[in-house]
Amino acid sequence: MDGSGDARRITIYRPEDFAGMRAAGHLAAKTLDMIGQHVRPGVSTDELDTIAHDYMLANGAIPACLGYRGYPKTLCISINHVVCHGIPSDRRLVSGDIANIDVTVILDGWYGDSSRMYCAGPPSTKARNLIEVTYEALMLGIAAVKPGAHFGDIGHAIQRFVEGNRYSVVRDFCGHGVGRRFHEPPNVLHYGKPGEGPELKPGMFFTIEPMVNAGRPEVKVLDDGWTAVTRDRSLSAQFEHMVGVTETGVEIFTLSPTGLDKTPYPAA
Ligand code: MF3
Ligand code: CO
Ligand code: CO
Repeated sequence: MDGSGDARRITIYRPEDFAGMRAAGHLAAKTLDMIGQHVRPGVSTDELDTIAHDYMLANGAIPACLGYRGYPKTLCISINHVVCHGIPSDRRLVSGDIANIDVTVILDGWYGDSSRMYCAGPPSTKARNLIEVTYEALMLGIAAVKPGAHFGDIGHAIQRFVEGNRYSVVRDFCGHGVGRRFHEPPNVLHYGKPGEGPELKPGMFFTIEPMVNAGRPEVKVLDDGWTAVTRDRSLSAQFEHMVGVTETGVEIFTLSPTGLDKTPYPAA
């Protein structure tokens, strides 16, 4: 699907549905805040996965990824040149690793989906700059969200900024409608032209989750059927927020309650 597809298939949620998304998004954000306290050199990605799994259950939620299309874990943890869908394992983080951690909960039937970048020890200047540009790209995409705008406006804002910084936007994965289902129409592309694609209307809920590569945009999926890596083995970064279109603009459902949306960098 190219994202310009049938606008009629996009769910328009009711004003009272925002409360469900707010609660699910808030729990996803709290999970990301919590897991950040455990990210350090020496921790295995399986250990992080177990901590997040138990936290979701303790908060009355179901881990959405576990068993989703056969996915075996609660989190996706995508280290360095892994673009997305890295599977937690006995791999231990080492100082200098950067990782995206992607959390999806189901709370009272509503999906809460968000991801951020984390650093195990101080990152290289290159890694840090990639993370900064990726975060800024997400926020520029969100700033384009308002009734009457088009999905292409979001993609264009992201692509223009990323390529202006001589990085590339991954084409093979995109954001998505979300709500009572994990992945709904439309595909939310992180590249495009102003005015392209469906028009944004109040009550549309979707993710914006740009993946940005330091090198070329091409990815390949490993034999495990999930792990997507950069073909040129360049570093990759990603941030994801879940948003709703309001009458006047946008509501971000997945903001950190403690201001940790943007990656904190550990000191040396
Ligand atoms: N959370 C991812 C997203 O942003 C989807 C992960 S699907 C899984 O859409 F099966 F890999 F968990
Ligand atoms: Co998503
Ligand atoms: Co996600």
